[in-house]
Amino acid sequence: MNVNSIVVLKLVLLICWPWLVYSKGEQGRLLVNMTLVRNASALGAYCLDGSLPAYHLHRGFGAGANNWLLQFEGGGWCNDIKSCLDRSKTHRGSTRYMNKLEVFAGILSNNASFNPDFYNWNRVKIRYCDGASFAGDAKFFNGTSLLYFKGQRIWQAILLDLLPKGLGHAKKALLSGCSAGGLATFLHCDNFTSYLPKNASVKCLSDAGFFLDERDIALNHTMRSFYEDLVSLQGVEPNLNQNCTSTLYYPHLCFFPQYVLPYINTPFFILNSAYDVYQFHHILVPPSSDPRRHWDHCRFNVTACNAYQLNILQGFRKNMLAALRVFYQDSRRDGMYINSCFTHCQSETQDTWFAVDSPRIHNKTIAQTVGDWYYSRNVSKEIDCAYPCDTTCHNMI
Ligand SMILES: *[C@@H]1O[C@H](CO)[C@@H](O)[C@H](O)[C@H]1NC(C)=O
Ligand SMILES: *[C@@H]1O[C@H](CO)[C@@H](O)[C@H](O)[C@H]1NC(C)=O
Ligand SMILES: *[C@@H]1O[C@H](CO)[C@@H](O)[C@H](O)[C@H]1NC(C)=O
Ligand SMILES: *[C@@H]1O[C@H](CO)[C@@H](O)[C@H](O)[C@H]1NC(C)=O
Ligand SMILES: *[C@@H]1O[C@H](CO)[C@@H](O)[C@H](O)[C@H]1NC(C)=O
Ligand SMILES: *[C@@H]1O[C@H](CO)[C@@H](O)[C@H](O)[C@H]1NC(C)=O
Ligand SMILES: *[C@@H]1O[C@H](CO)[C@@H](O)[C@H](O)[C@H]1NC(C)=O
Ligand SMILES: *[C@@H]1O[C@H](CO)[C@@H](O)[C@H](O)[C@H]1NC(C)=O
Ligand SMILES: *[C@@H]1O[C@H](CO)[C@@H](O)[C@H](O)[C@H]1NC(C)=O
Ligand SMILES: *[C@@H]1O[C@H](CO)[C@@H](O)[C@H](O)[C@H]1NC(C)=O
Ligand SMILES: *[C@@H]1O[C@H](CO)[C@@H](O)[C@H](O)[C@H]1NC(C)=O
Repeated sequence: MNVNSIVVLKLVLLICWPWLVYSKGEQGRLLVNMTLVRNASALGAYCLDGSLPAYHLHRGFGAGANNWLLQFEGGGWCNDIKSCLDRSKTHRGSTRYMNKLEVFAGILSNNASFNPDFYNWNRVKIRYCDGASFAGDAKFFNGTSLLYFKGQRIWQAILLDLLPKGLGHAKKALLSGCSAGGLATFLHCDNFTSYLPKNASVKCLSDAGFFLDERDIALNHTMRSFYEDLVSLQGVEPNLNQNCTSTLYYPHLCFFPQYVLPYINTPFFILNSAYDVYQFHHILVPPSSDPRRHWDHCRFNVTACNAYQLNILQGFRKNMLAALRVFYQDSRRDGMYINSCFTHCQSETQDTWFAVDSPRIHNKTIAQTVGDWYYSRNVSKEIDCAYPCDTTCHNMI
C-alpha cells in the first residue's frame, strides 16, 4: 500500500501546530545551521535523490562539553518506487529541499530551564532523507529513474564524520529519535555503542517509535505488509539485528521494535503514547480498513468516538502494554514513559518535553523521567492510566 499522503500532510500540520505556536511566541529560540557530510560520497551514502546527507550540530559547553546527544529526525517511510520518487523531490528525500536552519527545542534546547539534563551537551539533529529509518542499502535504476536507498550508509557516514569532532571520546552519549527516527534508534542502538569508548555511558531513547505489529480494524496486517514491502524495496534485511533475524521465521519482522527489543544490549528508554496518533491512523484504522468511513469523526476528534470505537482504542493500548510487559519487568537499567495522550513525538517540542503545563504521570514530566533514567537517579518506568483519566495531555485530535 501507499502511505496516504493527504493523511500524512494533515498529521504533519497537526504535529507542527503546537510547535509553530511555541516558536512564534518564543523570542530566544535556537536556530542551528546545517552541515553537509561531504565525505559521504566516498561511502556511497546519498539521500533518495542523490544529494549529500546532513546534520545540525550545536556544540556542548561546561560540564557537558564531552557529552553527545544524537537525534534522528523522523518523517514516515516510502515503500514503493512511486512514493519514493515523490519523496525524493521533497525535504523528506533530499537535503536540497530542506530548511538549512533547524529550531532546537525540547531535548535539543541549550537552555537549562527548558532542558535541565542535556542542555549543555553537544546536540546533533540527523536529517532524514532515505525513507527507511536509516536502514536501507539498495539502488533503483531502470534507464530513466534513479533512486538511492542508502540509509544504513548515511548513518555510518554521519557517525564517521562526528567521531573526530569529539564523539569518539565522549564520556556520556544518548542516541534518540522521534517517529521513523525513534524506530531508527531501536535499529542502530547497539551499533552506536560499538563506536564509543568502552568506559563511556551510552544509552538510547525512542520517542514515538514503538510501532506495533497489530492488525487493523478490518483484521488486515496493514502495517506488517507495509514494512515487508519497505524492507524488500530498500534492502533493509541484511542490516537488521542478526540475532533477531536468525530467530524469527519472517526476518523482516525484526523491523518492528517489539521483536528486536529483547536483543538490544544497551540501556534503553521507550517514550510513547498508548494512543499514538500516527499508529491510530496508519496501523489501527488506516483508510483502507474503513471504506464506509465510520471512523472519520473519531479519527480527528477523540471526543466524537463512540463506545465501540473507544473500546477498540483501549484494546490497542492493552496490546501495546502487553508487548512491553517483559521490558517493564526485566531490568532496572531501562526506562519507559507510556502516557495516554492523543499525540505523536513529545521530546522535540518544548510544551510536551518540559514546561509548566506539559504532560505528567505521577506529577513527573517527560524531561524529568528521562533525566532520572539517564543519570540513574531513580527507577523510571511510568505507565499512565487509560484514557480519559489524564488531564495533562496536549492532544492533537
Ligand atoms: C549558516 O551558514 C551559512 C554558510 O556557512 C552562513 O552564511 C550563515 O550566516 C549561517 N547562519 C547562522 C544563523 O549561523
Ligand atoms: C533561558 O530561558 C530563560 C527563560 O526564557 C531566560 O530568562 C534565560 O535568559 C535563558 N538562558 C539562556 C542561557 O539562554
Ligand atoms: C522507470 O520507472 C519509473 C517509475 O516507476 C517509470 O515512470 C518509468 O516509465 C520507468 N522507465 C522505464 C524505461 O521503464
Ligand atoms: C574523508 O575521507 C577521506 C578518505 O576516505 C579521509 O582521509 C578523511 O579523513 C575523511 N575526512 C573526514 C572529515 O572524515
Ligand atoms: C575512559 O578512559 C580514557 C582513557 O583511560 C580516559 O581518558 C577517559 O576519561 C575515560 N572516560 C570516562 C568516562 O571515564
Ligand atoms: C555497525 O554498522 C556498520 C555498518 O553501518 C558495520 O560495518 C559494523 O560492523 C557495525 N558494527 C557492529 C558492532 O555491529
Ligand atoms: C482487508 O481485509 C478484507 C477482509 O477482511 C479484504 O476483503 C480486503 O481486501 C483487505 N484490504 C486490504 C487493503 O488489504
Ligand atoms: C548476538 O548475541 C551475542 C550473544 O549475546 C552477542 O555477543 C552479539 O553481539 C549479538 N549480535 C548482535 C548483532 O547484536
Ligand atoms: C468534537 O466532537 C464533539 C462531540 O461530537 C463535538 O461536540 C465537538 O464540537 C467536536 N470538536 C471539533 C473541534 O470538531
Ligand atoms: C507537582 O510537581 C510540582 C513541581 O514540578 C510541584 O510544585 C507540585 O506541588 C506537585 N504537585 C503534586 C500534586 O504533587
Ligand atoms: C523516585 O520516584 C518515586 C516514585 O515516582 C518518588 O516517590 C521519589 O520521590 C523519587 N525519588 C527521587 C530521589 O526523586
